[in-house]
Amino acid sequence: MNWRRFCCFCICKEKDLIRENKSRDYPWELYTLKEILHATNNFHNDTKIGEGGFGSVYRGRTSKGVEIAVKRLKALSPKAEMEFAVEVEILGRVRHKNLLGLRGFYASGNERLIVYDYMPNHSLVTHLHGQLAADCLLDWPRRMSIAIGSAEGLAYLHHEANPHIIHRDIKASNVLLDANFQAKVADFGFAKLIPDGVTHMTTRVKGTLGYLAPEYAMWGKVSESCDVYSFGILLLEIISAKKPLEKLPGGVKRDIVQWVTPYVRKGAFDRIADPRLKGKFDRAQLKSAVMLALKCTDSNPENRPTMLEVVEWLKGGVERRRKEVTNLQHMLEEDGNNETDADFQGLRMPQSDSRRERAVKN
Ligand SMILES: Nc1ncnc2c1ncn2[C@@H]1O[C@H](COP(=O)(O)OP(=O)(O)O)[C@@H](O)[C@H]1O
Ligand SMILES: [Mg+2]
Repeated sequence: MNWRRFCCFCICKEKDLIRENKSRDYPWELYTLKEILHATNNFHNDTKIGEGGFGSVYRGRTSKGVEIAVKRLKALSPKAEMEFAVEVEILGRVRHKNLLGLRGFYASGNERLIVYDYMPNHSLVTHLHGQLAADCLLDWPRRMSIAIGSAEGLAYLHHEANPHIIHRDIKASNVLLDANFQAKVADFGFAKLIPDGVTHMTTRVKGTLGYLAPEYAMWGKVSESCDVYSFGILLLEIISAKKPLEKLPGGVKRDIVQWVTPYVRKGAFDRIADPRLKGKFDRAQLKSAVMLALKCTDSNPENRPTMLEVVEWLKGGVERRRKEVTNLQHMLEEDGNNETDADFQGLRMPQSDSRRERAVKN
């Protein structure tokens, strides 16, 4: 990787941005190591806010008083260096209200650092399963707005960014929340740029078990619909606060779709909602979101919606959603067991469990 080129690009980009639009929020910045060390108190352990496969993330405050997050590469292996390069390259290309903003980077000697906007409300995983889960800061409207925001960020990557971008690691720990609980999709280390006209590619499998589309987990076939699948899992997780993969007694693993399916069959949608919501949710919205998640996680990528359709669905009014949900019959299996839901009668269940189980075992 030619870092000199990257730095030049960075400077030019900043000049261009300033020239083009003086009011733009975050033109790129170049950071000196000294400034970042000062901001993070020499990467003091107390400033550490996150840990991933790629490196540690620290919180800091620059001399201008700006709160930043700094990702520091752990070891300079070729793989880690590649992830760093991919993340800087991709975040440098995109700008959207639902994507984490890149402020700058540092690359010299053995040090590789990425500087982002600091997200004071941490990642979605902390609220669903982590330290902040008990506080229950995510009420139903907030959850839906986070789902819509993440979907909009992804739709931008798939349909507006040029070339298109597949994220490949959509999961709760990679959705960060700003001061207003607005979702910011983060962590582009595994992302892939898709050249024009290419519909899918075969690659080595990256990503996180539990969120991987079966065709990707088994054959490395990657396309935008792999992100759609992961988004479907994330949507169920947002609704239920269940983990994507659960270890049952006896060591068998069950994924969240397998968990949710019997409740949908019975029409017992209320049982799917996170108990911490204490029944405070929009029932029609919940049903619609669950059905959308099932469509997103269809084992056949061709049956999954696009992220643009997902956004439209999530934003659509109740009447519209009801019609769409009823139209889902082609992906659902006849089930005479539907007990309670007049508006969802006739739904069929996904036929894809065997493939899903194989993906889980992998
Ligand atoms: N800008 C940020 N603001 C606040 N916390 C962050 C920020 N970036 C990352 N984090 C925290 O650090 C964790 C790891 O960051 P991430 O970019 O996902 O790196 P990795 O590639 O190591 O998974 C996130 O899950 C989150 O908890
Ligand atoms: Mg991550």
